[in-house]
Amino acid sequence: SAPQLDVRYQDSFTIGAAVEPSQLEGKDAAMLKRHYNSIVAENVMKPINIQPEEGKFNFKEADKIVKFAKENNMDIRFHALIWHSQVPEWFFLDKDGKKMVDEKNPVQRMKNKKLLLKRVENHVKTIVSRYKDDVKSWDVVNEVIDDGGGLRQSDWFKITGTDFIKVAFETAHKYGGNDAMLYINDYNTEVETKRDDLYNLIVDLLEQGVPIDGVGHQSHIQLGWPTLQQTEDSINLFADLGLDNQITELDVSLYGWPPKPAYKTYGEIPAEVFKAQAERYDALFKLYEKLDDKISNVTFWGITDNHTWLDDRAEEYNDGVGKDAPFVFDPNYKVKPAYWAIIDHK
Ligand code: G3I
Repeated sequence: SAPQLDVRYQDSFTIGAAVEPSQLEGKDAAMLKRHYNSIVAENVMKPINIQPEEGKFNFKEADKIVKFAKENNMDIRFHALIWHSQVPEWFFLDKDGKKMVDEKNPVQRMKNKKLLLKRVENHVKTIVSRYKDDVKSWDVVNEVIDDGGGLRQSDWFKITGTDFIKVAFETAHKYGGNDAMLYINDYNTEVETKRDDLYNLIVDLLEQGVPIDGVGHQSHIQLGWPTLQQTEDSINLFADLGLDNQITELDVSLYGWPPKPAYKTYGEIPAEVFKAQAERYDALFKLYEKLDDKISNVTFWGITDNHTWLDDRAEEYNDGVGKDAPFVFDPNYKVKPAYWAIIDHK
């Protein structure tokens, strides 16, 4: 039968998967137990789920994942303490319930900086204190770099500058202790301009003594993009700063961006496309192995092709009908050519 993925890579890095709590039973759970030694929540640890109302934390769903991981000896990645998306509105409302970001009144923003930083501190402190003995790696901030250049103009940034990042890392370190591995996570980290913006930000923060341990490279990639060279350069760049690298949300889409046109059903996808995907996975994992002293974890953003956020994108751009197939297991939980490619490196 098919060798276990995590055992195959045990000398290099841990192998993870992103899950919803509903995937902790049945066939998905069996896959998790067999092939993965690390786990991350696809959604339930994000701010909107964990603290939907100020001071009202909801750990129920997150706890299920933590419990499953502990029972099965898996490492846990926490995703994500602070993000601009899936964040409840109350974070950015002032004491009177007014929006902190008022384009016509810049003073209103600055006035609320302290309040927002206090909320960041409380959010991070509460979560990290609860899970510090269980979680190994933390996505402290997610997607703070803008694709067009510089820092993302999120409400966090508009109100606090980069202080929200500083406070989030410092608080995570204070309550997580020295064992907590703290990451700054982003997508398109292979793209030179974005990579360099991220690099400059990190250098700046490290010089201020901000405790950053590593970079999370989401790696939502495609069959022909980005190049292996771009991936390698990015990992080396951050490793040279003394940082760890993790591949945090890997999937290999069959499509470009936007994903149009897309195959309508799984059955329509030609065998040669799966072959091309296998070659892509083969080359990628060879590279990860070559760089394995600089990469501590590789996490897929899902388990099998029956559940992937990319389907939502394929549908959205193709009048509601489209199917992607980014993983190494098919919708029937069977291995794909891509699986054998990363097991064997033929
Ligand atoms: O839970 C509600 C449900 O109650 C409602 O009926 C349904 C109707 O749309 O929506 C459900 O919420 C959805 C949620 O996933 C849970 O399934 C949201 O609409 C949907 O937008 C959300 O998408 C998630 C997305 O982040 C949000 O931006 C994806 O599952 C998740 O895979 C994706 O993950 C992100 C990473 O966190 C960061 N990097 C990029 C990655 C892919 O976008």
